[in-house]
Amino acid sequence: MKKSFKLILCVLLCTNVFCQSNNKIAIIPEPVSITSNGGHFSLPKNITVQAPANADLKEAIHLLVDKLKTATGASVMVTPSSSTAGTIKLILNKSANDVIGKEGYTLTVMPTGITIKANESAGLFYGIQTLWQLFPKEIESKSAGKNIKWDAPCVTITDYPRFAWRGLMFDVSRHFFTKEQVKQYIDAMIKYKFNLLHLHLTDDEGWRVEIKSLPNLTKVGAYNVKKVGYFGTFSTPTPDEPRNYGGFYTQDDIRELVQYAKARFVNILPEIDVPGHSLAAVVSYPELSCTPGAENYHVRSGEEIMDWSHGQPPVALVDNTLCPANEKVYDFLDKVLTEVAQLFPFPYIHMGGDECPKNYWEKSDAIKALMQKEGLKNMEEVQSYFEKRLEKIVESKGKKFMGWDEILEGGLAPDAIVMSWRGIKGGIEAAKQGHQVVMSPTTFVYLDYMQADAVMEPRVYATLRLKTAYQFEPVPDSVDSKFIMGGQANLWTEQVYNMRHAEYMTWPRGLAIAESVWSPKEKKNWDDFAGRVEKHFDRFDAAETKYDPAVYDPIFKAGKDANGQLQIELSTELDGLDIYYSFDNSFPDSFYPKYTQPLTPPKDAVQLKVITYRGNNPIGRMTVMPIKEMQRRADRKKGDDE
Ligand code: ACM
Repeated sequence: MKKSFKLILCVLLCTNVFCQSNNKIAIIPEPVSITSNGGHFSLPKNITVQAPANADLKEAIHLLVDKLKTATGASVMVTPSSSTAGTIKLILNKSANDVIGKEGYTLTVMPTGITIKANESAGLFYGIQTLWQLFPKEIESKSAGKNIKWDAPCVTITDYPRFAWRGLMFDVSRHFFTKEQVKQYIDAMIKYKFNLLHLHLTDDEGWRVEIKSLPNLTKVGAYNVKKVGYFGTFSTPTPDEPRNYGGFYTQDDIRELVQYAKARFVNILPEIDVPGHSLAAVVSYPELSCTPGAENYHVRSGEEIMDWSHGQPPVALVDNTLCPANEKVYDFLDKVLTEVAQLFPFPYIHMGGDECPKNYWEKSDAIKALMQKEGLKNMEEVQSYFEKRLEKIVESKGKKFMGWDEILEGGLAPDAIVMSWRGIKGGIEAAKQGHQVVMSPTTFVYLDYMQADAVMEPRVYATLRLKTAYQFEPVPDSVDSKFIMGGQANLWTEQVYNMRHAEYMTWPRGLAIAESVWSPKEKKNWDDFAGRVEKHFDRFDAAETKYDPAVYDPIFKAGKDANGQLQIELSTELDGLDIYYSFDNSFPDSFYPKYTQPLTPPKDAVQLKVITYRGNNPIGRMTVMPIKEMQRRADRKKGDDE
């Protein structure tokens, strides 16, 4: 009797602990304030959603109803604001709560029902995104869950964003992603309250937006040769290889995307990247180049066209620039921008300006004549001349001019907005000159970088771990925050060849960036965030969204001991994981040696195999590190990652 009582007590306690830890509230980005009130709300079989009839909320309500029906199988009815009924009440209460502003909301979950209040429709939309995260992960599923208890914990949340600019950049030029895939990208980003999608629409590898007055841009400029291998080292295409890889968005496609994004409270920022990164435009209209022979150029298929060995700017092997000394270039840009400005209602147009090689300009008589005429002293001033003229064209279309931080060199156009990518230095300088800035530094937000060691990930330029991404702070100490519009993460896709991989590169780092641009700075906490991220892995699984599980993988650091012998340190991003290893080529598990101190490889060892465990369960990916690679890193004194 006594024994069975103990057993029951133990089961009850364990179940309770399990329930608590399993139901722990895990909202990303972390709200401004959240109070747990105890108890829970259970979704009934018949749900009523009381909602205002505002036109800009129509699609959001439709999405809400659809998700409830799809995941829970419940019947859902929408009632007007005038009705008193409502399992879920959405209430617009303009200017009732100043502190939450345009995008903030309050969310109250009580046993009797759910209420979301906001000043504006965007706030209700974000309140709904938070609400989903209070329900079981199966709410993300595309089919009805079975035997799910559709409970949400009783809470009171007040929430609003830290920054108005919460962006993700999707490079649809290097690799063309279809209209449906762009929508899929938007569907994922809105769950984490991003409100800006920057589309990188043009580059050396493809021009992706229909410009009716310049048909060659998409007839010729949207296609290259499909190659497989390592980008930048692909073989130069031969004339018999078909140039049919790529695509573009028609103007109707763009209008559809803009509308789709708007209904989800996302603005689309178009980028037309000039004067560098312009090979697709030059191939379409060779007269835009300073360089004779441009008519023989081809849209790039990933073959080497730049020499990066001298740093920035690169030295071009093929002239991928528009010619600042050619009036036809400004006519061309006027035509492009007339149509782009009409297609995209967002008040800003991003005009690139990055990584523009100058070596062909240096050889050009037309550029020399321009320099003399305009009193330009160097190539940076030539680019600055171009950017200032470009700003005027952009402004003549009723838009604001934006560019990467290279537009600072040689003198910034008067009202330009700077996107700081080469670290935060450019952003600081622009802000000190009184310009608006969006922070987007490689050091914290470049989603094209690997998330784990180069031996594990598809090889790219550098590694940026989740923990580092989480340290993203858009406002540098020395800068007045009024100049910082916000932050943005960038997914360049020259080495991203499909949508699943685009997702894998974006998540979970997108979560770290979302929290950095939405949540109050003082609420950021890595340990707490890491726990929440793991809960969101389950949500990604339910939503069938791919993500990189790199946080579970080991981190290798190569160094040398006092005798100059190779020494390998292992660690993990997450606390509480055990690391098991082998040097004998076999696959380690938890019966193998556990890592406790730096390792010296046995004399003839060829590889170190490593796996992480949480308790009794393997959790990281089996990682195979060649000893030669460790030795190489130790010799060059940069011991980690790649
Ligand atoms: C950039 O990453 N070239 C802006």
